[in-house]
Amino acid sequence: MARKSYEEVYASSLSDRERFWSREAGNLCWDRTWDRVIDERESPHNMWFEGGMCNVCENAVDRHVEAGRGGETAIIYDSAMTGEKTRMSYEVLRRKVAKTAGMLRSMGVEKGDRVVIYMPMIVHTIIGMLACARIGAVHSVVFGGFVAKELASRIEDSGAKVVLTASCGFEPGRVIDYMEIVRDSVSLLEGRGGFVSHVVVFQREGYEVSLEGDAYKDWDEFYEVAEEVGCVPVEASHPLYILYTSGSTGLPKGIERASGGHMVALLWSMRYIYGCEAGDVFWAASDFGWIVGHSYIVYGPLLAGCTTVVYEGKPVRTPDAGSFFRVIEEYGVQVMFTAPTAYRAIRREDPDGKLKSLYDLGTLRAQFFAGERCDVGTLLWIREQLGVPVIDHWWQTETGWAITSDFLGLSTEREVKEGSAGLPVPGYEIMILDEASEEVPNGELGDVCIKLPLPPSFMTGLWGSRDRFEEVYMRSHPGFYTTGDAGYKDEDGCIFIMARTDDVINVAGHRLSTSAIEESLISYPSIVEAAAVGMNDELKGQIPVAFVVRGKEGAGVDDESLVRDVIKYIREEMGAVTALHKVMVVGQLPKTRSGKILRGTLQKMLNGESYTISPTIEDERAIEMIAAMIDSEGLSS
Ligand code: COA
Ligand code: AMP
Repeated sequence: MARKSYEEVYASSLSDRERFWSREAGNLCWDRTWDRVIDERESPHNMWFEGGMCNVCENAVDRHVEAGRGGETAIIYDSAMTGEKTRMSYEVLRRKVAKTAGMLRSMGVEKGDRVVIYMPMIVHTIIGMLACARIGAVHSVVFGGFVAKELASRIEDSGAKVVLTASCGFEPGRVIDYMEIVRDSVSLLEGRGGFVSHVVVFQREGYEVSLEGDAYKDWDEFYEVAEEVGCVPVEASHPLYILYTSGSTGLPKGIERASGGHMVALLWSMRYIYGCEAGDVFWAASDFGWIVGHSYIVYGPLLAGCTTVVYEGKPVRTPDAGSFFRVIEEYGVQVMFTAPTAYRAIRREDPDGKLKSLYDLGTLRAQFFAGERCDVGTLLWIREQLGVPVIDHWWQTETGWAITSDFLGLSTEREVKEGSAGLPVPGYEIMILDEASEEVPNGELGDVCIKLPLPPSFMTGLWGSRDRFEEVYMRSHPGFYTTGDAGYKDEDGCIFIMARTDDVINVAGHRLSTSAIEESLISYPSIVEAAAVGMNDELKGQIPVAFVVRGKEGAGVDDESLVRDVIKYIREEMGAVTALHKVMVVGQLPKTRSGKILRGTLQKMLNGESYTISPTIEDERAIEMIAAMIDSEGLSS
């Protein structure tokens, strides 16, 4: 079928939003048709398909069974950690989700109740998410790499009374004891007056744990006696989930996603961005705990009736740098999605693609990237290895889907340049603004902003605080959502995303807040001041480096021991993914006379970039000393 023109589709998405999105919504089933396509009365908290009633699980699962596609494969599971490989049809998925929803009901979970899901890369995680959606419960999936403190804060903020978990997760060379982490979080919460009524544990074969305590239940035992339940129609504005992400303060932000607009946008994206239709095999090599996992391991492919691949493993070391290619060949993957860091890891271990050449990648149509900027060197290498379009596209947890991309399902005469994250996705009006909120000329760097109204699927708010949405995202440029990314637009309208304008850093595709790292550093007894910044890294994109000032406490401890203990402490406090690379003990931090730490200067020094010393600096010697340390440690990248 001839592809539609990008230019025409994009223009119509802005000139007649109502017609554009209602046409797409018509491809899904609704229990009640919407009264208005977009309700902007409380902008930016836009309500798409206001008045409509729907159920995302019904659209992602039951709809395909009812259309006679129940026998087709919904999920392929491949664990490089255990060797398990399974397939599940839409019909079986429907039954399991319906029964799991019944299991949640038997614990008193109803529409609007929150359920935290802290689980590894197994099929039961998808089943748990869909079971929540089926009865209108709001799930909050927490990434398995987070430690007890982080898990507890998410349970507390979401107000969840039920936690779904598993006996363990696997990382290369070690087993992650989920039960210990969950028990510690539950105790932490109890200490703060919190209360979790049920912790449901999926026992992984060979790694069963004993379940002591009234709250702890065996998933299978509960499931066996549960009854199947049907889909509960919910308002289009009803939250499907809360997903916590790092923000410009140490406090995690609970991004709230409304059901109706999200499913419509994801369905559109599957066809026009990823070029997929029902029956295609789609693989997002990410984690359920991140937005990519939510949108493109679970909801997007299933809404489109595709087969989604769930992979438990790494791109390298499980067992080697050929594992991605094995999965592509074994399951006939057509479209793949991951973070560039994964391919940088493969390239480092197999620069000539010897392992890749052992596999037939004939089914693959395209490789998509997001999570961090894909540097041109990596992009060209992957293109040469795979021989298919390699598409970098840009998005955020807040948006739930791409803001800019190239489009497998649309045609354009324009060339999407290497190093760019593509053209604006229909529905998004993107402008690059200066400090005075004026649009900058093409080619000039500025704040990348999205003009209101925000498209469907966009976050509708931050959980628990209505005003914080405006405070965090809308203040800098009235009438615009500020993405927190800096970039520029070229003469063809391609968007280049270059850096963050806040304290967020991207470590191996994981979004981390340096403020949160600083808060943890300062909570260490003998540290009185800390600054954390991102240093460029060939493999992970960025890695955190900290500068700390010690206080009187622990005066007998030498710097070397302090650094070792602090790195260990941060790992325990924040989880291994934080991967604090280096800590430098300094006499003082460089600050302005008003006390603002010159983090930008520190970052430039670490990255070997030229920097100017602020005229308002309190004491220039702080910079000189740090420059000498960076030099002597050979750190500057
Ligand atoms: N549970 C517990 N620990 C986890 C974890 C999880 N779900 N995920 C990662 N970790 C741990 C790792 O085991 C590692 O621990 P270690 O320091 O003891 O080795 C630490 O966190 C850092 O992990 P990571 O940042 O993933 O680095 P790595 O060196 O283990 O692997 C890559 C590097 C590039 C192979 C890996 O980061 C990768 O596959 N990235 C893909 C990125 C991705 O999926 N991003 C999601 C957005 S699309
Ligand atoms: P997350 O919410 O974890 O998906 O992280 C979103 C942030 O990751 C964005 O604001 C960007 O800083 C960065 N990011 C994601 N995709 C890209 C991309 N393709 N190019 C550049 N940066 C990206």
